[in-house]
Amino acid sequence: MRIAVFASGRGSNLLAIHDAILADELQGVSLDLLVCDRLEAPVVEEVKKRYIPDFIFRPQDFPDKKAFETVIAEKLKTAAIDLVVLAGYMRLVGSVLLEKWEGRMINLHPSLLPLFPGKDAIGQAWRTGVKETGVTVHFVDAGMDTGNIFLQRKVSVDPDDTEESLAEKIHNVEHQLLPEAIQKFQQEL
Ligand code: GAR
Repeated sequence: MRIAVFASGRGSNLLAIHDAILADELQGVSLDLLVCDRLEAPVVEEVKKRYIPDFIFRPQDFPDKKAFETVIAEKLKTAAIDLVVLAGYMRLVGSVLLEKWEGRMINLHPSLLPLFPGKDAIGQAWRTGVKETGVTVHFVDAGMDTGNIFLQRKVSVDPDDTEESLAEKIHNVEHQLLPEAIQKFQQEL
């Protein structure tokens, strides 16, 4: 199964997926494309070091979302991608990609959806004072973090946690859960 990862920032989840593939923990899967909407995102340097093909673009160079999503759709087709994984892609997916990819596009989110959708989900959970939060992998639809849930894992908020330690625990769980979700999708194909 050939996958593309969409990311806008650090790329720690892309690296976790790639490490799992290299360690043979994620089997029957190859990472064949990074799609990134920020030239200066740290993930761009990381994929160059690992020789992962990429498509890096600036949304402002296109007239609208339809225009850049049309180019992305062509790149996905050329790379013969089977599954699209959004891992920190900080942009709502539009109609061009949804029409082609709904059901084959998953997103990682750092909360137990439907709680705390949108930006800064870890901060939202922290400020609300919940005893438990977590990580969700869900199918992408037109809403913001609203699609059907594919896999979820809880993370406890302990008395000695700080917002930073909670974020670290959540990221560690993400790095496990996202490769697991990809394997699950591959097994159910
Ligand atoms: C991850 O925590 C991911 O769950 C979050 O962005 C981070 C990307 O980290 N995504 C969202 O908040 C989407 N609503 P990374 O660039 O290190 O993989």
